[in-house]
Amino acid sequence: MWSLLLLTCAGCSGPSTEADAPPAQPAGWLDELALRPVVDLNPDPNTLELNLEARVSNVELIAGKPTAMWTYDGGVPGPLIRAKVGDRLIVHFKNSLPEPTTIHWHGLRIPAAMDGALTHDQSPIAPGETFDYDFILPDAGTFWYHPHVNSATQVGNGLYGPLIVDDPAEPPELGDEAVLVLSDASIDEDGELAPGDAGGDFGTLFGREGDLILVNGRVNPTIFARAGLRQRWRLINAARSRFFELHLPGHDFTRIGGDGGLLETPEVADSVLVTPAERADVLVEPGRAGGQALTDGLTLLWHAHYRGYGTDFNRPDEDVLQLRFTGEAPARSAALPALSRTIAPLDTTGATQVDISLTISSPEQGPMTMGINGVPFTEASHLPARVGETQVWTVKNTFEFAHPFHLHGFFFQVLDVNGVAPAVREWKDTVNVQVDGQVRFVVKYDDRPGMWMFHCHILDHADAGMMGMVGLTQ
Ligand code: C2O
Ligand code: CU
Repeated sequence: MWSLLLLTCAGCSGPSTEADAPPAQPAGWLDELALRPVVDLNPDPNTLELNLEARVSNVELIAGKPTAMWTYDGGVPGPLIRAKVGDRLIVHFKNSLPEPTTIHWHGLRIPAAMDGALTHDQSPIAPGETFDYDFILPDAGTFWYHPHVNSATQVGNGLYGPLIVDDPAEPPELGDEAVLVLSDASIDEDGELAPGDAGGDFGTLFGREGDLILVNGRVNPTIFARAGLRQRWRLINAARSRFFELHLPGHDFTRIGGDGGLLETPEVADSVLVTPAERADVLVEPGRAGGQALTDGLTLLWHAHYRGYGTDFNRPDEDVLQLRFTGEAPARSAALPALSRTIAPLDTTGATQVDISLTISSPEQGPMTMGINGVPFTEASHLPARVGETQVWTVKNTFEFAHPFHLHGFFFQVLDVNGVAPAVREWKDTVNVQVDGQVRFVVKYDDRPGMWMFHCHILDHADAGMMGMVGLTQ
């Protein structure tokens, strides 16, 4: 799949003796970002089997102010589900919410009956009911899980969790890892969650963003770090609508992975953009610059990314998390292995062309609905596809807001964004379609027939009708 080359540590600071332990992060460096683990009920090392319950629980987003949130196992986010590629995952799920739900395993290439989407491959799980999810984890990467019923409200109320699939062949030198689930929430003075339909049609049109930015369910948490050491952040945008454009002043990010595991080659940039449902696997060396002991620390900033009418107007940067350093001189991590992964381009010759327009009803048509090619999900017929078929999708935005477009069950390769080919090849399941923009991607369907949803992952837009289905048959 991908190979690595160990480079010599050119320019490593000073000679080290056998006795020197390599520099390490301070004990408890991630305590404020701890994710709850799951209990594995299965002794087989290649099977992860767990119980998971969706229920309303009190969560303290702000200390001393409990908020009744919708949770997996009592916390926001849900527990970290982590296994290795090829493992079997069994989840005994119980719905203890006051309404039906499902779990969608975002980005996993699993059978349609396990996908948790609202199609005839799976019906919603009623309150008090259970469902056993059971499938093989086919790909390494950073994924997440969330409901697919009334999803803007259910996700907005706190139902989302991280799912990491490890590749045991990956080198350990990539960095000290933090899984960072990015989201937001709005609560009032009494700690009450804002209603799912706050702001009416305007809220739906803009996509509802919460006032509190959350990382692993905490407001502005701190990472206690040894300056200079490389950290690997697996970023997951689990917000119902908020885009996360992140900046760490004075620092670059090396993006090594995305939705579908590692990129062909890493990409360096001074910011990272993670639109709703996207993931980014980035390396960063906080406090590396200067060689001085850092006492002040650093702040990871959220920057208002333009995603349509007024969405970046007059919005100052906000703190996402703090980095505090030990006060020792900056250390250096072992040299980064040269990462490369071979991702063969999908052949587009003879591919079926699929045209998708992301649309909104006009005011004369009555209550606002959104749709695909003018048709809201409730009236949509499915788009036909055959196992083994290759399709090239052209997804066009026809209105004033950007749409992170997601296809269930299959990775695709982006061919171009507004006519420009991406710099590196990667597997994706969600891609942002900018205002007035257009994205073309190629997808090849493997042998998993069924109904597969596609939709805008601004969940307010999805629930307003911007969803469709691929009907995949033999
Ligand atoms: Cu995370 Cu239907 O999506
Ligand atoms: Cu949208």
